[in-house]
Amino acid sequence: MRIAVVGTGYVGLVTGTCFADSGNNVTCIDINADKVAMLRRGEIPIYEPGLADLVERNSRAGRLAFTTDTASAVAAADIVFLAVGTPPAADGSADLTALWSVVDSIAPHLRPETIVVTKSTVPVGTCAGIEYRLRQRTGRDCRVASNPEFLKEGAAIDDFQKPDRVVVGVRSAEVGETLRALYAPFLRTENPFLTMSPESSEMTKYVANALLATKISFINEVANLCERMEADIDDVRRGIGHDSRIGFAFLFPGAGYGGSCFPKDVQALASMARDKGIEPRILAAVHETNLAQKQVLGEKVARHFGNRLSDRAIAIWGLAFKPRTDDIRDAPAIDLIERLLAGGARLTVFDPEAMANVKAMYGDRLRYASGPLEALDGAECLVIVTEWGDFRRPDFDDMARRMKHRVIIDGRNLYSPADMRTRGFAYEAIGKQPVTGPASG
Ligand SMILES: NC(=O)c1ccc[n+]([C@@H]2O[C@H](COP(=O)([O-])OP(=O)(O)OC[C@H]3O[C@@H](n4cnc5c(N)ncnc54)[C@H](O)[C@@H]3O)[C@@H](O)[C@H]2O)c1
Repeated sequence: MRIAVVGTGYVGLVTGTCFADSGNNVTCIDINADKVAMLRRGEIPIYEPGLADLVERNSRAGRLAFTTDTASAVAAADIVFLAVGTPPAADGSADLTALWSVVDSIAPHLRPETIVVTKSTVPVGTCAGIEYRLRQRTGRDCRVASNPEFLKEGAAIDDFQKPDRVVVGVRSAEVGETLRALYAPFLRTENPFLTMSPESSEMTKYVANALLATKISFINEVANLCERMEADIDDVRRGIGHDSRIGFAFLFPGAGYGGSCFPKDVQALASMARDKGIEPRILAAVHETNLAQKQVLGEKVARHFGNRLSDRAIAIWGLAFKPRTDDIRDAPAIDLIERLLAGGARLTVFDPEAMANVKAMYGDRLRYASGPLEALDGAECLVIVTEWGDFRRPDFDDMARRMKHRVIIDGRNLYSPADMRTRGFAYEAIGKQPVTGPASG
C-alpha cells in the first residue's frame, strides 16, 4: 500500500518506518524542514533504540522517503495517517490546532478512495469532526478512521511490531478490512485486531493512559504513606502483586509520571468529562497526586540540607522522563532542577541521551558531566531521577571517593538500603525507611 504519514515525531516516524519495513511504500511528511533534511541525510532527530537501523534500511530500499511537500505525498497515498502533536491547551483540553491545519492542507489532495486515519491521541468526537470538515472542504463523504497508538518510547519499535492489540474505529467494514490487512504482518501471533466505532476507539486510548497513570499515582501515594508508617513499599508491592487480580505492572513508586502522554491525556480526559457536566474526581486526584509527587525529590533534598540549598553541590543522574528515550517533556527531573536552582544549588547533571535537550533549555545554568561518575566530583548529594540501566550497578567505592558527602536520594529505588548502610552511604528512596549515613555538613 502507499502510505503518507503527516507528522514525523516519535509516533509518526516509528509508524512510517515500521509500515515501510513490512513492505509498504511510505512517505513521512513534516512542516519542520530541518527535521526532514536531517532524516534525508540519514540522521535521526530523536533517540529511540533500533530506529536508526530501520530508517536506514528502508530508505535505502526505496520504501521510505521524507518530505515537506504534503500535496504530492497525499495525492499518491491510499492511506494518510495523521500523527501530529496534540499538546495540552491552557485549560487542560487537547490543542488540535496542528491537526486541523493538517486536515485543511490534505483535503484538496485526497482521492475519493483514500482513507484518513488519526494516529494522534485526539478527543472523542474528533474523527466525526474530521469527517464533517473534509465533507465541507471536498464536497463529498471521505473515509476517516481512528487508530490510536499505544507504543512506549524506549521500546517503540517492538511495541509497534508486536502490539498487544490494534484498535481501529471505523464506520464501514471495508475500511476496517483494509486496515486489518495493513496490520496483518504485526499480528501473526494472533494478538487481537479490534474494530469498534471511532468514538469508542478514541475513548480507549485516553482510558488506557488514564488507568496506567492512576496506578502510578496510587502506588506513589501508598509509598509516601509507607515512609510514615515504618513500612517498606517493595514488601507491600510484593504482598499485593501476587494477587492475580492486582499484578505487578505499573505499580512501581517513583518521582511521578512525565512524558508527552500521561500528564496531557489525564487532563484532556478530565476536560472532556467536565464538558459533559461530569466532575472527574478520580482523574483530578491522579493529576494532583502526580504534581505533588514530582516535588518529592526536591523536598527530600531540601530536608536533608535543613532547607539551606544555597551553593550546595548536587549531582543529578537521569533527566529523560524515563529510560531509553531523550524525551524530557514534563519530566520529573525538570521539576527537581527548577526547585534546586531556585534554592541556589549548583547542579551537575548527567543523562545518557537527554543532555542535548536539557542543555537547549538551561544552557550554562547547569554543569553537564560526560559520565555518571564525573558528575559526582565534589558532590554533597546525588539525586537519581531516571532508572537508566547504567545507574543500577555503579562502582560505589569510586562514587564514595569522588563525593564530598556520601548521600544518595533515589527516586527510583535502585539500591538496597541494607547494602547502602554497609557501604556507609546516607540513602533515601521512595516508600522506604531512610538510611542515615555519616554526618554531613
Ligand atoms: N510519544 C509517544 O510516546 C506517544 C505514544 C502514543 C501516542 N502519542 C500521540 O501521538 C501524537 C504525536 O505525538 P509525538 O510524541 O510523536 O509528537 P512529536 O511532537 O514528537 O511530533 C509531532 C510532529 O508533527 C509535526 N507537525 C506539526 N504540525 C504539522 C503540520 N501542520 N504538518 C506536518 N507536520 C506537522 C511536528 O513538526 C513534529 O515533528 C500525539 O497526539 C501523542 O499524544 C504519542
